[in-house]
Amino acid sequence: MEAVITLLPGDGIGPDVTQCALEVLDAVATRYDHRFTFDTQLIGGAAIDMEGDPLPAATIASCKGADAVLLGAVGGPKWSDPNAAVRPEQGLLKLRSVLGVFANIRPVKIYRELVGASPLRPEILRGVDMVVVRELTGGIYFGDKTRDETSASDLCTYTVSEVERIVRVAAKLATVRRGKLCSVDKANVLETSRLWRDVTDRLMPAEFPEIEVETLLVDAAAMHLLSRPADFDVIVTENMFGDILTDEASMLAGSLGMLPSASLGDTSTGLYEPIHGSAPDIAGKGIANPCAAIASAALALRHSLGLETEALAIESAIAAAIANGARTVDIATAGDSPVSTSEMTAEIIRGLQ
Ligand code: IPM
Ligand code: MN
Repeated sequence: MEAVITLLPGDGIGPDVTQCALEVLDAVATRYDHRFTFDTQLIGGAAIDMEGDPLPAATIASCKGADAVLLGAVGGPKWSDPNAAVRPEQGLLKLRSVLGVFANIRPVKIYRELVGASPLRPEILRGVDMVVVRELTGGIYFGDKTRDETSASDLCTYTVSEVERIVRVAAKLATVRRGKLCSVDKANVLETSRLWRDVTDRLMPAEFPEIEVETLLVDAAAMHLLSRPADFDVIVTENMFGDILTDEASMLAGSLGMLPSASLGDTSTGLYEPIHGSAPDIAGKGIANPCAAIASAALALRHSLGLETEALAIESAIAAAIANGARTVDIATAGDSPVSTSEMTAEIIRGLQ
């Protein structure tokens, strides 16, 4: 098939890992006889430096015209002054919003061989296989913001339809998985959470009577994620809670560098990005873990291009590289000699053949 993919390397290790995803996609194209055309565009701090805008018009146009968008990471100390007028993160938030990708799917999968890389005990990690569905275009990230010398505010808003559509995405996912949905909120304090819970309590038995539903307050959920992670199948939650809980959940997998994500809306154009940030301290050093970015490319093939076989081939190649002992420094344990970003990528590409 032919497909157009926009690449947004962004900042920090973003360019390092996006290059790896590109190489893997090129290898897939050759092996399966597809033609992928890549269009690289600016976002984040790199776009501020070049154009004074974290999301230039040309980037938006390219993303809207593409079959899928692959993003590296945005942000870094250079642009993070609390009084800065424009910020790299604004570019990413606006992109999510203009693409309408309200459902951020973050699978948390554990490789047996990496159990030792997690700070948790192996018996707690046994059987962990969950997907966090994070609402991505609403809530406190997008509400009005104010700031003066003595105070600041961030408004958190959700509408019934915003909650309904994300809960439906999560519930549909649960039906093809283990049939369990956990909705996470803070209904003992927040009005938006009480709305979230009302909608979930009404919608789930009416539309998905076969799904087992559990509701947790976010503080308890943070604890249960560490004490009984294997119990979770699909977790659905609002934007900021999903952001925080998935960084926590990445420790189950051993590293933030392992978790991919897919952001989907009502059209087939999706935005695919590792859940990790720009890690400026290791940018350009050739040691970043490319697995999350490469696994995000696999999700792009699955969800936007309909190439399930090819997506599985990439996922198996990542698993094979890990089984063969390839470890970037973030997932290396005592006795391993860590490989570089490009060696890890080459090992994954070898597994595709
Ligand atoms: C993520 C990131 C972003 C977020 C930042 C970079 C705006 O942390 O994708 O998880 O908070 O959504
Ligand atoms: Mn995050």
